[in-house]
Amino acid sequence: MRRAVCPGTFDPVTHGHLDIIVRAAGLFDEVVVAVGVNASKSRLFSPEERIAMLGEATADLGNVRVDGFTGLLTDYCVEHDAHAIVKGLRAAGDLDYELQMAQMNARIAPSVETVFLPTRAAHSFVASSLVKEVAGLGGDVSGLVPDFVRALLTERLTSRAAAED
Ligand code: PNS
Repeated sequence: MRRAVCPGTFDPVTHGHLDIIVRAAGLFDEVVVAVGVNASKSRLFSPEERIAMLGEATADLGNVRVDGFTGLLTDYCVEHDAHAIVKGLRAAGDLDYELQMAQMNARIAPSVETVFLPTRAAHSFVASSLVKEVAGLGGDVSGLVPDFVRALLTERLTSRAAAED
């Protein structure tokens, strides 16, 4: 059984993330989408909301499940018998940081391999942070995130704006 972990913050999940998850699911027997839960960082969506969104977005993928994790990603991988961490690389800009993390993770847990998948060109500019910024300023993010995520995004950003008034 080859199990891989697709880690991330997923605030919120985008079609770029889903493309990597689908492709990882084709390469490994089981994929665990691991949502990083770092209480010190403020997010638009709570860990529970992010996990629920990913659950809905991956519901038709039989070998994918979603979980939350705290602490070191490598500890999570070892505890859950995962042999690989799968990450998407959008552009050269991603590489410096991702390589540094992969090398640090390899130092901590040499049995866990990091696998980089090149993001499809259609998603290479898609980032959760930009999606939130564009949606927050009234821009159209359809096609960048699943429709149900777009609706939740609009709802959350609208209620936030109202609370700030
Ligand atoms: O979607 P993101 O924000 O790029 O995801 C980053 C994440 C959650 C994968 C990364 O921050 C992470 O692995 N956090 C867990 C803490 C950890 O293991 N830190 C050491 C990394 S070398």
